[in-house]
Amino acid sequence: MRLNRQFEQIVQSPTVAATDRILALKAAGRPIIALNAGDPDFATPPEIIAAGVRALQAGWTHYVPSRGLPELRAAIAAQLAQLVDGSNGQKPPYDPQHEILVSHGGIHAYYLAMQSILNPGDEVLIPDPSWGTHANLVRQLRGTVRLVPALPEDGFLPRLTAWENALTPQTCAIVINFPANPTGAIPARAYLRDLLAFAQAHDLWVVSDEVYQNLYFEQKPLSVAAFPEFRERVVLLNSLSKTYAMTGWRVGYLAAPQALVDNALRASQNSITCVAPFVQQAAAFALSDPAMQIAAAGMRAAYARRRQLVLDIYNQYPAGSLKLTPPQGAFYFFLDLRALGRSSSEICERILDEAGVGLVPGTAFGRQGEGFVRMTIAASDEDIAAGFRAILDWAQKAGRA
Ligand SMILES: Cc1ncc(COP(=O)(O)O)c(C=O)c1O
Repeated sequence: MRLNRQFEQIVQSPTVAATDRILALKAAGRPIIALNAGDPDFATPPEIIAAGVRALQAGWTHYVPSRGLPELRAAIAAQLAQLVDGSNGQKPPYDPQHEILVSHGGIHAYYLAMQSILNPGDEVLIPDPSWGTHANLVRQLRGTVRLVPALPEDGFLPRLTAWENALTPQTCAIVINFPANPTGAIPARAYLRDLLAFAQAHDLWVVSDEVYQNLYFEQKPLSVAAFPEFRERVVLLNSLSKTYAMTGWRVGYLAAPQALVDNALRASQNSITCVAPFVQQAAAFALSDPAMQIAAAGMRAAYARRRQLVLDIYNQYPAGSLKLTPPQGAFYFFLDLRALGRSSSEICERILDEAGVGLVPGTAFGRQGEGFVRMTIAASDEDIAAGFRAILDWAQKAGRA
């Protein structure tokens, strides 16, 4: 039978493949410390769960308009307003009626954005390394991906000249994701402004995946919403998954100019109809209740404590083949094992087999990730401490071999 050949271009995500191996070993009874996943180990705050249950009991169990519940869109607009410099939340930067669309999580918001923008053959610039879905989805939609090297020595931020070198007359969009998965990179204001100006000069869309916006350790990341002067070319997407430990609820949003939201609305109507209304009620509560912002800040503080735990353990070890740069945001360490001179996949497989720790190969995120592995700190302190020590012990032995 004939099938869509476009999917031949999409290989199984190496992140999923790594997870499958880890699960298989666990099922076979091996004690594995899994530091591979990007899912908070915290439970969703009970008040958010209660809001969802209340909504179910109140009858929010039918179709609702595809754009999303007005109370949720208002809560999203209010949060976005706080990201604009100097507005203090007084003036909503996005019109909740026309410029915000509720989605089935951040991944769906990205799908809707790309489906709204791309024509077959259009080219999209994506940093290497990046979360795999950024490139895969463009290919799935018959676009062409041009990878822009984000070198470790540049803090994993592509140089402006690298963006320029990747441009062709077919380029229609760039994708950015700060804080970045897997590197935790956060750019300075000047970098972001120059990038937006570059997009303006070449008439490109800027698709900004901000799902880790609330997870930072020192400097608070700037959202593209902080630059209203570029609003007409910016698509901002975010979700409640990481901030409020709500990955399984599947709720997020995109904020963009009305013409793009109009396309995205049709794409959403013709695929999911609407996000479950009780989930939307819980999401509106999460975004607007002051205590939930404190709960989110508490989880951020826990990630900061775990990041410090990793740094403290690292400093107890003699210098060896493993180098690390503290992430500025998100909840991953991108561990540099290039000194071993082996591929990321081999390193990951050996760490899993010989040290019993599950990680993701850096090449799951692109060629520039070769020699790196991603370790999550969205896990318990005990698992992080035991897992990271096992990795360091393994790296010392492997370095001597
Ligand atoms: C960079 C990035 N964007 C988007 C997502 C998707 O998140 P969700 O669909 O749960 O909002 C993830 C999940 O890991 C991610 O790492």
